[in-house]
Amino acid sequence: MHAIITTGLGKTYPGGKEALKDLSLQLDEGEVFGFLGPNGAGKTTAVKLLTGMLNPTAGSALVMGHDPEKDPERVHALCGVVTENARMYDHLSGLENLMFYGALYGQNSFESRERADMLLAGLALHDAKDKKLGAYSTGMRQKLSFARALMHRPRMLFLDEPTSGMDPESGIKVNQMITRLAKEEGVTVFLCTHQLRYAQDICTRFGLISEGAMLMTGTLPELQNAVLPGIRVRIRADKLPAGLPLQEAGNGVFEGSLGEEGEVADLVRKIVLQGGDLYRVEVEKPSLEEIYFALTRNREAAK
Ligand SMILES: Nc1ncnc2c1ncn2[C@@H]1O[C@H](COP(=O)(O)OP(=O)(O)OP(=O)(O)O)[C@@H](O)[C@H]1O
Ligand SMILES: [Mg+2]
Repeated sequence: MHAIITTGLGKTYPGGKEALKDLSLQLDEGEVFGFLGPNGAGKTTAVKLLTGMLNPTAGSALVMGHDPEKDPERVHALCGVVTENARMYDHLSGLENLMFYGALYGQNSFESRERADMLLAGLALHDAKDKKLGAYSTGMRQKLSFARALMHRPRMLFLDEPTSGMDPESGIKVNQMITRLAKEEGVTVFLCTHQLRYAQDICTRFGLISEGAMLMTGTLPELQNAVLPGIRVRIRADKLPAGLPLQEAGNGVFEGSLGEEGEVADLVRKIVLQGGDLYRVEVEKPSLEEIYFALTRNREAAK
């Protein structure tokens, strides 16, 4: 079964803003899908449509086999959602907030306590579990919101900038937990983020959206081939033969672009056979960040 299927999904807000245009997307179960795009691109709108918080003005969606427009309760029972402003209670402690949420999903106090303790420990919130939420910092609140979304063991997670206010250590903890949930429990993840380095590490596939329209979807190698094909090579060498496709970058380092990996071997062979001394060879493919900027730049230029 597909975790998500959308067909021509669109949203025009009252007032005329077309925030999401003709989104057709399929996600397999267990995928960690990175939904990337600049401010105002339509990411949060998409999450709201997929979780039944908003109704579409075009097209349709199925999330874990259910239509979020017609059956939001079913979708919520199967999905955890982390949005910018999760509704939690400032006058309750972190632990009480989680247990309250567990109770809403029919857990008894033993079950909810056990689940909450496990999540609080995994997110390094255990020491703050009895503090009132009102006294939590922004990052702590975000971690608790993430824990809350996991209380009822969802099959699918919608995460809208889940780590934006967290320190690097907390961000890594949350990302590790996302990866573990996907790998070990087959949880599907729909992750909206601007943190492209993290996204590159934890997502299995990406969608790049701009001004409400999906520009491209694919795995990192697929995006690399489509947007910035080729590889960069950087070598440190001495007595280099002339006529190589390399430019000097200082300190005995030379850089160049090659079409594919086989050309690296050719280049190394040529240098060595012609008496050059090689000290280091590094090969690099463009990062998600570079692809993202190249794609959004191309789009600006095409206007
Ligand atoms: N309730 C609303 N009424 C009218 N327009 C809205 C509403 N909510 C969002 N928009 C507009 O829809 C567009 C998409 O907004 P959305 O919040 O989905 O973007 P986003 O990709 O999540 O951005 P960010 O990265 O800043 O969170 C923006 O132009 C925004 O101004
Ligand atoms: Mg948003």
